[in-house]
Amino acid sequence: MTQTTNATDARTPPVAVWQVLEKLRGQDLIDWRVAPLEGRPSAAERGMDIGFPFGWYPIEQTGFVAVGEVKPLRYFAKDLAMWRGEDGKVRVTDAWCKHLGAHMGHGGKVSGNLLECPFHAWRYDGEEGVVKDIPYAKAIPPQVKRKCLRTWPVQEANGWIHVWYHPDQTVAPLFDVVVHPEVGNPDWTEYETLEWVVYGSIQNMAENGVDVAHFKYIHGTADVPAAELRWGEWSRGADVRAQMGTPNGIVDGLISYDTMGPGQSWTRFSGISETLLVACLTPVEEDVLRVRYCFTQPKAQAEGPGAGLARALIKDIGKQLDQDKVIWDRMRFEPNPVICDGDGPIPQFRQWYSRYYAKPTGEGDQGGLRAVG
Ligand code: FES
Ligand SMILES: [Fe+2]
Repeated sequence: MTQTTNATDARTPPVAVWQVLEKLRGQDLIDWRVAPLEGRPSAAERGMDIGFPFGWYPIEQTGFVAVGEVKPLRYFAKDLAMWRGEDGKVRVTDAWCKHLGAHMGHGGKVSGNLLECPFHAWRYDGEEGVVKDIPYAKAIPPQVKRKCLRTWPVQEANGWIHVWYHPDQTVAPLFDVVVHPEVGNPDWTEYETLEWVVYGSIQNMAENGVDVAHFKYIHGTADVPAAELRWGEWSRGADVRAQMGTPNGIVDGLISYDTMGPGQSWTRFSGISETLLVACLTPVEEDVLRVRYCFTQPKAQAEGPGAGLARALIKDIGKQLDQDKVIWDRMRFEPNPVICDGDGPIPQFRQWYSRYYAKPTGEGDQGGLRAVG
C-alpha cells in the first residue's frame, strides 16, 4: 500500500525507478501495468513458495457473471469455475469434473442453480459440492453423491464477488467481509478502476505501507509523516495526518488505511478530496497478483469545481503503485531480512501478518493451524 503525503510535490530526483516509467504515457502505461514479465526466476527461488495467506479475497466485480452465466477463473494457483444461478447467487467451485475431468468453466451451463458439465452434462450443486443429476444414468455413483468437489464460500459486497481462501478447505470463514457504505450510494461516483499485474508476493505489497524508508527512495517524498498504527485480531490500519500541498495552498489531510485479512484493503482520503480507494489484491500464482484499485468520490466533488484535484489524487496513487511495481516485480520475499534502525515497524508487521498463514492439516481437521515465516 502506498501513501500520499505532503511531499508529493517536492520529489527529490533522481529516483532510479522513475527512469523505467518516464517514457510511458497513456495507453503505453496502461499496457505496461498488465504486461507479461518473461524470464523471471521461479517462485521458489524468490522465496514465494510459502502458500497464500488465508482470508476473503475480491476476485471479480459483480458484473463479471450474469444470471445463467458460467466463467472460468484462475486464482490461488487453481482453475476454478464460477456461475450465477437463477436465484441470483454466485457459486465458485474447483473447475475439473470428477467424471472424466472436463473444465466446467469452459462451456459449462447453468441448469437452475446447478452447474452442468459441458462434456456429459453431470450437474453439480455449488454449495454441497455433490452431483445432483446425471441425465443419462439410472443411478448417481455414490462417490459423487457425497461431497466430491471443492466449493468456495462466496460473498458479494462493495461491488465485488469475494471468495474465502484457506489452505484447509474445511476451515469456514473466520471473519466477515467489511462493507463500505459509500459503494452504491447514489451520491458517490461509480468505481474508476486502475489495474495491474504484479509479479510478486502479496505480503511484500502489504508491507509497503509500514516500510517508511522507501518513500524517499522510490516515491521521492521528502519526509514521511508519522502514522498511528492500529493492530486488530484480523484487521489492521493506520491513520496518517499530513499537510498536503495543493495549487490553493496547504491543507490538512487525513489518510486512513484499513485491512481485513490479507485480501480486503481500503483507504479513505479526506482534506484535499474525499476519496474511497478499495484496493483489491488477489493472488493468481505464488508470484503473480492481480491488483485492481477502485476509486469512488462524492459526485458533488468529482463533477464540481474540485474535479481537477479529485482526478489528480487518483493519478498520483496510480503513479505510486507504478513506482513500487518496478521493485515488486523483481524482488524476493526475504523471510529473514536484515533490518536497520530507520526501517520502521517492519518486524512488528511481519510478526503480526504471520497469523494469516496456515498449513492444511488434513480433511476434516479444523485445528492445528501452523504459522510460517
Ligand atoms: S467430464 Fe464432466 S460430465 Fe463427463
Ligand atoms: Fe510504496
